[in-house]
Amino acid sequence: MNAIPPPLGIVCELTHRCPLQCPYCSNPLELARAGAELGTDAWLRVLDEAAALGVLHVHFSGGEPTARKDLPDLVRRASANGLYTNLITAGVLLDAAAIDRLKAAGIDHIQLSFQDVIAESADRIAGLAGAHERKLAVAKAIRQAGLPLTLNFVVHRHNAERVPEMLALAESLGAARTEIAHVQYYGWGLVNRAALLPSRAQLEFTLQVVQEARARLAEKMVIDYVVPDYYAQRPKACMGGWGRREMVITPTGKAMPCHAADSLLGFEFPSVTDTPLADIWSNAPAFRRFRGTDWMPEPCRSCDRREIDWGGCRCQAFAMTGDAARTDPACALSPDHALMLAVAEGRPEAAPAFVYRRIGHAPASVSAEPVPAEATV
Ligand code: SF4
Ligand code: FES
Repeated sequence: MNAIPPPLGIVCELTHRCPLQCPYCSNPLELARAGAELGTDAWLRVLDEAAALGVLHVHFSGGEPTARKDLPDLVRRASANGLYTNLITAGVLLDAAAIDRLKAAGIDHIQLSFQDVIAESADRIAGLAGAHERKLAVAKAIRQAGLPLTLNFVVHRHNAERVPEMLALAESLGAARTEIAHVQYYGWGLVNRAALLPSRAQLEFTLQVVQEARARLAEKMVIDYVVPDYYAQRPKACMGGWGRREMVITPTGKAMPCHAADSLLGFEFPSVTDTPLADIWSNAPAFRRFRGTDWMPEPCRSCDRREIDWGGCRCQAFAMTGDAARTDPACALSPDHALMLAVAEGRPEAAPAFVYRRIGHAPASVSAEPVPAEATV
């Protein structure tokens, strides 16, 4: 008998291919090439196993999931299995006909990302000319198809001033939900941290705008807001807790508790190609390692928030301290919190150039590695 409740959702990262090159992408620096991706049959089996396990949601993500020609087949199988299907897309490969095919296959919801509201800036951030105009057309086509739409804006020092216009755009496009999400610093985002981290004044401005808009638009639109950890007092409950709610499956079939778990040294993540999903979820040592509260050090162990934020983010703890089992340094109670403050205080006046996300162009000198010894407290 399986005593561990099943995951609520699985994130199927179908591919790392993407026409965009956003410098905040949370994908790993070593991106999988097309030839290494799971085939259609393997993904169909995963979707069957997910439904049998009791999963409720499947998020088709990437990279850019619409780069996979078999996406409608996967949506159809997930839908037939009773899974709620969400497509997380940059949109630039979609048109009205493709949206109709996805609708016919049973897609329930589409989340469309925007880089900014000014085309020139948006295209510069995406690293793709014409991307913004294309996204506007795709957003309209999604609504015309009658599909629920969430807009996602990733916010950072280059666009934080335009959060009011982002919300106005979402309202005009008929989005039922909008995410104003500050960059989370993993993968390429961590590489580009100095180029992206907003100032505290920018952060406070975005928070104030979101609070006002929530009151004004309460009847029309839900607004989600994600803060950058570097200015936080308490950490986020990353993935709702390690091995508690979500499973991420990479393009090559590796099953992980979160998007960035691959950055943790010394961990082995099982493959869906040779291990059933239910077995992975219940028994894989990597999933059990930080599940619940038994693994926690102080101050988490005796903290009354330990079953609220689950000690924060393991990948961030590793990236900042070299030890995934420490309290997330985003927490002001963490003995490592000064590391976070030092990054925010050391934010450069002038932003360095972006390192764009490209397959086969992993920067050699930057990775989610521990900070130098002299920076530790
Ligand atoms: Fe969360 Fe641990 Fe900080 Fe408590 S001490 S708020 S459990 S991260
Ligand atoms: Fe891995 Fe937070 S991203 S635990």
